[in-house]
Amino acid sequence: MVWLQMNAPAKAGLTCRGAQVRGPDVRDHLGRFSGQRCRLADTCVTEAAAFVREIAQKQAISRAHANCGCAGSGVAAREGRETIACVTEAPAPFTVPFAPPDLGAAESDEVQRTLASGWLTTGPRVRRFEQEFAAYVGAPHALAVNSCSAALHLSLLAAGIGPGDEVVTTPLTFCATANMVVHCGATPIFADIDRATWNLDPAATEAALTARTRAIIPVHYGGRAADMGRFAAIARPRGLTLIQDAAHAIGAVYEGQRIGAIGDFTCFSFHATKNLTTGEGGMVTTSDAAAVQRMRMASLHGLDRDAWARYAPGGRTDYQVQMAGFKYNMMDLQAAIGLHQLARLDDILARRTAIAARYDAAFSSLPLRRSAALDAGMVHAHHLYPVCVDRTIAGMTRDELQQRLRALGICTSVHFPVLHLQPFYRSRYGFTPGMFPVAEAVADQILSLPISPALTDDAIDRVIEAMHECFR
Ligand SMILES: Cc1ncc(COP(=O)(O)O)c(C=O)c1O
Repeated sequence: MVWLQMNAPAKAGLTCRGAQVRGPDVRDHLGRFSGQRCRLADTCVTEAAAFVREIAQKQAISRAHANCGCAGSGVAAREGRETIACVTEAPAPFTVPFAPPDLGAAESDEVQRTLASGWLTTGPRVRRFEQEFAAYVGAPHALAVNSCSAALHLSLLAAGIGPGDEVVTTPLTFCATANMVVHCGATPIFADIDRATWNLDPAATEAALTARTRAIIPVHYGGRAADMGRFAAIARPRGLTLIQDAAHAIGAVYEGQRIGAIGDFTCFSFHATKNLTTGEGGMVTTSDAAAVQRMRMASLHGLDRDAWARYAPGGRTDYQVQMAGFKYNMMDLQAAIGLHQLARLDDILARRTAIAARYDAAFSSLPLRRSAALDAGMVHAHHLYPVCVDRTIAGMTRDELQQRLRALGICTSVHFPVLHLQPFYRSRYGFTPGMFPVAEAVADQILSLPISPALTDDAIDRVIEAMHECFR
């Protein structure tokens, strides 16, 4: 809902349903008017949001010119001061948030104990978290860092990726996947997605390989494992490194093995919305003992020993800088949360699976498309619950459905606008619409519905009811 706050009958106009509404009519048009705060009718929300932005811009201009007395700012200043003293955009809170974190007493008690211990940065809790995480996914080694982006960057560097190299990945991903390739001085190459799974298409990947290709980054989109068998068959004979972006995929299983146990490097995210959260954070797993040692050093400035090794009882405080490293280390404060999230990860995943199953059943009668059913031996981590809104079938666009759900208090999100059409990628690499048609079509239609173990059955009922109401 949009609120306007006025101190006089508004002279400025507001467009609603294509008609200009001016002067005092603006107030008449509002759904409710109490004192100086006016609540707009639902139908006006989009137009009002544009109106609010326009006025805010005028106010900013008048503020910027407050002391110069320039005539050009007069109109903006008058409108800003005289007609609408204060314009606020204060949408009513969502009744169902998109992905609230699921944190319990165990996490907050451990944080309290960490604070009381006096050791906040990388130390014994991070080491324990790494060991327990590696054991959970079935990987020989794990390195905790402060984000999945850091994990991707360190993995690419450990694989020796640098200027002149090419790395193939999906355009249906968050920008961090390809940004990290750019940070290595290498070139991200996109290949289209599979239309049934929405993951990177192995055949398109193979077609995108050149003599300069050094690595492939499959993304386990939404928590659904990419086709790692086919990627291994493409990568191994050519000596390419397989780096998995598993930001969404803690808990996913590929052919009986947890994601994290296979491939050269697997990178996880513990961002606030993820299946396992530490607020911000990440982990990289690998079977390469030498690589994990180099990555550990690179994650803390290139020092040969971290602070815990230097200041724990019996440690030596001196250090040597062995490389120009980064500040990517995880704190014990984050690991304190992660340890307890990991301890109940199976419950967290079971709740996500149950929510997804309820949505599957409830939406089977709606004109929506979902990704294909899983093959045997696979487990979906259900980080996202995306549906595809094809206007020719649904009778509305994805954006229209999102607006309707918004008006009903349901928060949704889009994962993702295609990466190759983002301004940086267009201008640096010359990508244009139509280059990856499957990803582009999916990205135009896809909508992620609320999913989190912290959402109650009532909240999930509200999403289901709202979806049915939108299609009535
Ligand atoms: C697919 C994907 N990769 C990488 C990232 C980056 O994760 P982080 O925020 O932990 O760096 C995200 C974040 O949401 C993501 O969705």
